[in-house]
Amino acid sequence: MTDVSSMGPQDGDDREVLTNRQGHPVYDNQNQRTVGARGPATLENYQFLEKISHFDRERIPERVVHARGVTAFGFFEAYGKWGDEPIGGLTRAKLFQEAGKRTPVALRFSTVIGGRDSAETARDPRGFAIKFYTEDGNWDLVGNNLAVFFIRDAIKFPDVIHALKPDPITFRQDPNRIFDFMSQTPESMHMIVNLFSPRGIPSDYRHQQGFGVNTYKWVNGTGETRLVKYHWMPKQGVRSMTEEDAAAVQANDLGHATKDLHDAIDRGDYPEWELLVQMMSDEEHPELDFDPLDDTKVWPENDFPAKPVGRIVLDRNVENNFLENEQISFGTGVLVDGLDFSDDKMLVGRTFSYSDTQRYRVGPNYLQLPVNQAKSTSVRTNQRDGLMAYDQGGGGENPHVNYEPSIHGGLREAQYPTHDEQGPEIRGRVTRKRIPLTSDYKQAGQRYLLMEDWERDDLVHNFVTQLSQCDRDVQERMVWHFLMVEDDLGHRVGKGLGIGPEDVSHLKPLQSQTLDEEEKERLANLG
Ligand code: HEM
Repeated sequence: MTDVSSMGPQDGDDREVLTNRQGHPVYDNQNQRTVGARGPATLENYQFLEKISHFDRERIPERVVHARGVTAFGFFEAYGKWGDEPIGGLTRAKLFQEAGKRTPVALRFSTVIGGRDSAETARDPRGFAIKFYTEDGNWDLVGNNLAVFFIRDAIKFPDVIHALKPDPITFRQDPNRIFDFMSQTPESMHMIVNLFSPRGIPSDYRHQQGFGVNTYKWVNGTGETRLVKYHWMPKQGVRSMTEEDAAAVQANDLGHATKDLHDAIDRGDYPEWELLVQMMSDEEHPELDFDPLDDTKVWPENDFPAKPVGRIVLDRNVENNFLENEQISFGTGVLVDGLDFSDDKMLVGRTFSYSDTQRYRVGPNYLQLPVNQAKSTSVRTNQRDGLMAYDQGGGGENPHVNYEPSIHGGLREAQYPTHDEQGPEIRGRVTRKRIPLTSDYKQAGQRYLLMEDWERDDLVHNFVTQLSQCDRDVQERMVWHFLMVEDDLGHRVGKGLGIGPEDVSHLKPLQSQTLDEEEKERLANLG
């Protein structure tokens, strides 16, 4: 093998010598091999063909959603308590137990709809995905900056994303397609009242909240389970932009939020979020006017206080965007002992989708990449081979034994957790049914009433601007929904569109809707 380092500096240049990927020194990086100075190239032009063919494969598929994003690293520090209560009685997850205990983390912020190089000023939810490299293996908490979502059943995810993505023919994001879908999807009202308010354009990633959105469970040492929701509150405060602010920022920079985060960390101004958890007993809750497994709902904080359990600090930027931001892979199935899923119908679907897309997007061995590997424990599996395998994740004394069970060595199962049967026993018919308690309007209306005047003005303005670009039938149905949400919202948006309550009072509830008593009364007095 040629010792490249011994080639010595030329002309006093002591930088290291360029090689190809076989380690061969490159003598000429300016000219292909040709027959004569002007002549044709030949097929055995190894150095050129290797260089160009690798370049041809530089891009991997971008994420189907959340393509544009930025990752930073840091730590999670536990408080050892849930509010004032010792945390051990609530979850046995090790990372939460001791006050001051630190767990390394990676956090990727993102926008949802645009491509990898799209503008970060878009009105769009922002992703807030965290990988905790715990001693029990990785835990991913994959959330957004808004507390609720557009839909409540994973089977609708491709539809909502198709409606929000560019038109398949014109390749333009089109309000007429977006509001066509939303007008037929009443559970989206709560989300769009948030998304079209100023909260829909966070000023940057440091000044936004994060929410787990879906309902998870905590499991304690005796196997008792509780339903939980996660919230991240920025120490930097929450800031938003209006459309005008966003247009001014976008005129100068498509990546202002990535730059803001990167620069803050570079100058030692480390951003920080506190993690708060809401909790509810793990059973059905007929006393509530919403379903706690419905991700279009928030849990009222007066009844279910959000109590702090720790904080996260980001203190390191990526060293390589492709390795650490493009290839990082999160999933809602990535949980550790003491944390569990709920039956939230979105969460179940998400849990299949993430690792499925990552096997396609990054490759079947995506978990061998350093950024995705468990860091605070070792990985020992009998899963082998596949494209780009380099770490066989083996173990045990006998490397011949890549199966289990064996009396010749190999890996053994861990001791079974003492409390394997967690949560309530569920009985029911296999069926396809909406959840019985949909309550699609009430929380959207409460959110509207909680807004400050300028936020309401901005929301109405944004709805009118968007809906002005829609067909009349879509406009009418949206005004109908807004009147069901809150009279004032329906009147104001309707006025902006020239549509009064009398123009929509003939509309019947959608076939997919079952109104509750309160909603029926509202419908009877529409407007
Ligand atoms: C990314 C699916 C709902 C937050 C993704 C990706 C897929 C996906 C396929 C790309 C992952 C990758 O290429 O690595 C789904 C499905 C959903 C759903 C099927 C509904 C059933 C949600 C919800 C949230 C969310 C409700 C917020 C709580 C995110 C985030 C990312 C993401 C933050 C980006 C992760 C990263 O930075 O790599 N989702 N998603 N998704 N999703 Fe979802």
